[in-house]
Amino acid sequence: MRAFVTGGTGLLGSNLVRLLVEEKWQIKVLVRSAEKAEKMIGGLNVEVVKGDMMNVDLWAHHMKDCDVLFHTAAYFRETFRKGNHWTNLEKVNVINTIRLFELAEKHGVGKIVHTSTNATIRKRHDGEISDESDQMNPDEALNLYEKSKVIGDQEIQKFARKHLIPIVTVLPAWMFGPGDAAPTGSGQFVLNFLSRKLPGSFHSGIDVVDARDVACAMIQAAKSAVGGERYILSAYHTGLDELFRILQKVSGIQGPSKSFPISMVYLSTWFQEKIAVWRNRETDMSVDELRVMTELKRTSGEKAIRDLHITYRPLEDTMRDTVEWYRLNGMGK
Ligand SMILES: NC(=O)c1ccc[n+]([C@@H]2O[C@H](COP(=O)([O-])OP(=O)(O)OC[C@H]3O[C@@H](n4cnc5c(N)ncnc54)[C@H](OP(=O)(O)O)[C@@H]3O)[C@@H](O)[C@H]2O)c1
Repeated sequence: MRAFVTGGTGLLGSNLVRLLVEEKWQIKVLVRSAEKAEKMIGGLNVEVVKGDMMNVDLWAHHMKDCDVLFHTAAYFRETFRKGNHWTNLEKVNVINTIRLFELAEKHGVGKIVHTSTNATIRKRHDGEISDESDQMNPDEALNLYEKSKVIGDQEIQKFARKHLIPIVTVLPAWMFGPGDAAPTGSGQFVLNFLSRKLPGSFHSGIDVVDARDVACAMIQAAKSAVGGERYILSAYHTGLDELFRILQKVSGIQGPSKSFPISMVYLSTWFQEKIAVWRNRETDMSVDELRVMTELKRTSGEKAIRDLHITYRPLEDTMRDTVEWYRLNGMGK
């Protein structure tokens, strides 16, 4: 089987590429930087295509006759840093994603497996766990990244109604795992823990999943899911206290013991954001990220277990492998 993978240097994409190589797929990988590609997927038997989602038409012909397009690239981690990101979010996550899918169909790709996020799923207020039917409207999004993904999903569904190419969408929870070089928010959280920068916990609740399990589900989706299907990939609902406890166990580093009232955390995060803007620096956590961590939304990854026959590995294994990857790559203490 031949695959074209976008975002091959990212947390999800690099793990997906590794798994596809293990399964003996022929792979072309879209990367923006040859140097980063060498670091993340160097030595693997793949064809590297240099290109940017900002100008899809320039490189889309490389998808010719691939069986599957795995689309993981997105304007994502930059969003939680300061600046106005809407133009890039809309261009990469909506307009050019649709353009990519149009060109994939034109170049004979057989199926698309697209990466959305469980952030596009609405929190249920009856206390039940949300599932794939709880699709948000753009005005319900907690931040601009979520909004771009919600609109992206809506546009993909409109596109799918008019086109024949089957599109399966996966909606991962907060992903952890080895290979988070950039790093994304989860990787930064682990690195901050390792360098003892996290002051304490607060009442939080977030769904998490291992990026390698997401990669596995995407391959299963490519093999067996029918077009139009959507799968939340969410393994565990956890919070800061549990994450600190596991990280302490797997890293040997003492976690923070303090716990702060949520109102104080919001005030201090908001204040630090203002100071960071004034000093032209970044903060460790933005108010947007805090909102996601304290929403206490739960999403169900059961449909993927049932239909794609995947299993989610223990959270402790995920955190241990993440810490080990950072230490091996000189990024963690
Ligand atoms: N991480 C999470 O917790 C999470 C949760 C749910 C859904 N998701 C979704 O999962 C997907 C993968 O995210 P990730 O966690 O793997 O993030 P990541 O590590 O930041 O990877 C993103 C990838 O997209 C590439 N990319 C970004 N902008 C691009 C552009 N303009 N042109 C070409 N490539 C571009 C990046 O290239 P560079 O390496 O050159 O930057 C990188 O390879 C995204 O669609 C994201 O929305 C992530």
